[in-house]
Amino acid sequence: MSDVFENVMDLAKRRGFIWQTSECYGAVAGFIDYGPLGAMMKRRIEDIWRNFYVIEEGYYEIECPTIAQEAVFIASGHVKGFSDKMCQCPHCKEYLRADHVADGGGISGASTMTNEALAAAIAACKCPACEEVLGTVEVYNFNLMFATTIGPGSQRIGYLRPETAQGMFVDFARLLRFYRDTLPFGAVQIGKSYRNEISPRQGMIRLREFTQAEAEIFVHPDKKTHPKFARYADYTMPLLTYVHQQNGEEAVTMSMRVAVDKGVIANEYVAYYVALTHDLLVTIGVKPDRLRFRQHLPDERAHYATDCWDAEVFSQRFGWVETVGIADRTDYDLNAHAKQSGTPMTVFIQYTEPRKENRRRIIPNMSVLGKQYRQKAKAVFAALEHATPTADGADVVVDGETIHIPANLFEVRDEVVDIRGEEIVPHVIEPSYGIDRMCYAVLEQAYDEDTVDGEKRTVLRFSPRVAPVQVAVFPLMTRDGLDTIADEITHTLKRKGILAEYDDSGAIGRRYRRQDEIGTPFAITVDYETKETRTVTVRDRDSMKQVRIGIDTLPQTISALVNGDMKFTSLPAHQNL
Ligand code: GAP
Repeated sequence: MSDVFENVMDLAKRRGFIWQTSECYGAVAGFIDYGPLGAMMKRRIEDIWRNFYVIEEGYYEIECPTIAQEAVFIASGHVKGFSDKMCQCPHCKEYLRADHVADGGGISGASTMTNEALAAAIAACKCPACEEVLGTVEVYNFNLMFATTIGPGSQRIGYLRPETAQGMFVDFARLLRFYRDTLPFGAVQIGKSYRNEISPRQGMIRLREFTQAEAEIFVHPDKKTHPKFARYADYTMPLLTYVHQQNGEEAVTMSMRVAVDKGVIANEYVAYYVALTHDLLVTIGVKPDRLRFRQHLPDERAHYATDCWDAEVFSQRFGWVETVGIADRTDYDLNAHAKQSGTPMTVFIQYTEPRKENRRRIIPNMSVLGKQYRQKAKAVFAALEHATPTADGADVVVDGETIHIPANLFEVRDEVVDIRGEEIVPHVIEPSYGIDRMCYAVLEQAYDEDTVDGEKRTVLRFSPRVAPVQVAVFPLMTRDGLDTIADEITHTLKRKGILAEYDDSGAIGRRYRRQDEIGTPFAITVDYETKETRTVTVRDRDSMKQVRIGIDTLPQTISALVNGDMKFTSLPAHQNL
């Protein structure tokens, strides 16, 4: 098979999955359109994601604007630090990611080099665009956010969000109330994010506008035990830890329970979402042998994150591609937004039993001090509350002036008080999925070619759950009432919510090939026997085997097949008809 990337992208364009946007004006790199079949496939992948996170985990979905005011991204650190290292080729003038040039030239550690060191390191590398040796270049930081202005007058700066996550952080107080002030809780968002990538030359992998599906799960900092950990405790997969990477070793297969117990994964929450992500990616059609979980190296991890794992999918063209990131972001984001906005982002955690605490109260003699200090009296009382009294009295500072209050003008009372709970800043566990990269992985891994009746067959071996068209319906002939029956079957299936496509044009073999190429998992054929027995044939795309089943059972059978509740091989009497 020739280059899979070329084949997949050619098929994707030809059959209406994906193409470059505004082609008639000359495409702009980093932007794509999902065509009719691509948009449907993407929607199905997003719905599977929703099933895992919204239905099963119970984290409700929210929808925030894609533009936010500057303060949000000052707090998040994006205004200051969300940049890539860029240089310009002195020969062809192409802008390049300096760290990618270094990677391509076999230079490691680019992400931790200063700009000057990186410039020196890549001087001997070739420009990936024109292939000339770069020579002397300047490396500088290029902020990846798209800036805009809000409203007339261009005074209010806004940015297109570079991740959906910030929406969930700034909504924290409202979400907390929605979840009745109780931890843990989570909110998710599926939507567009924007990054002004320097040189997006990798098809759907590096886009300037892309879709993220992110969950932000707010947990008690001292209770990172997932309440449903048992679900994935025995889930086993190869884990490539940072230690393995540092020692040049292979990934080691272990269960989530063992990974947490051995301290390989920081806590149950991270381990739970590593396993759930594996489960989800396999569900959409990623092959387990082309999927690995790689822990971030200490110098790769955000300074505030305690642990971070990437789900990487192997692409024949691009190698291992980061597709999902799962991080324990600690309390960094909530603290940053609380500081920037002045809004507390804490949860009151009530103790099971109130705690007794000794408290010292200082009670001023109001009448004497009131008369003595008049307008300043209120400030004096307030300062006295926090003073450290001696036998002689207490010194307080009011408006920069130190005032001595004699001991006979206040009373010190030691009391035992009930403390009912405390305000804490939750930690955030974040699984962050790139939907476009998932779509590409599904397309690339589904692409296959085989030979049928001496002819090449191109087939997308999609999981029935992500296939855009779920079933095709063919009348063997467009006469003798076969077409009417096929049309009725199509209508009945559509009314059950199944995307069925009626096709009566050309030889039956050609019709099968057309559906195979877009990954339709099942095809129903109405033939002359149908009129006698009210049965049709159902053909399985992958094995090309057929079974004959009754028209009346079609809706539930096809439903079960496309939802994955039933396998084709478990249908009775499946045979090569
Ligand atoms: N909130 C965390 C966050 O945004 P990230 O690793 O920058 O983390 C998460 O992004 C996922 O989004 C990535 O694993 C990737 O799948 C996807 N992604 C990031 N940048 C992308 C781009 N330029 N084009 C397509 N997908 C991208």
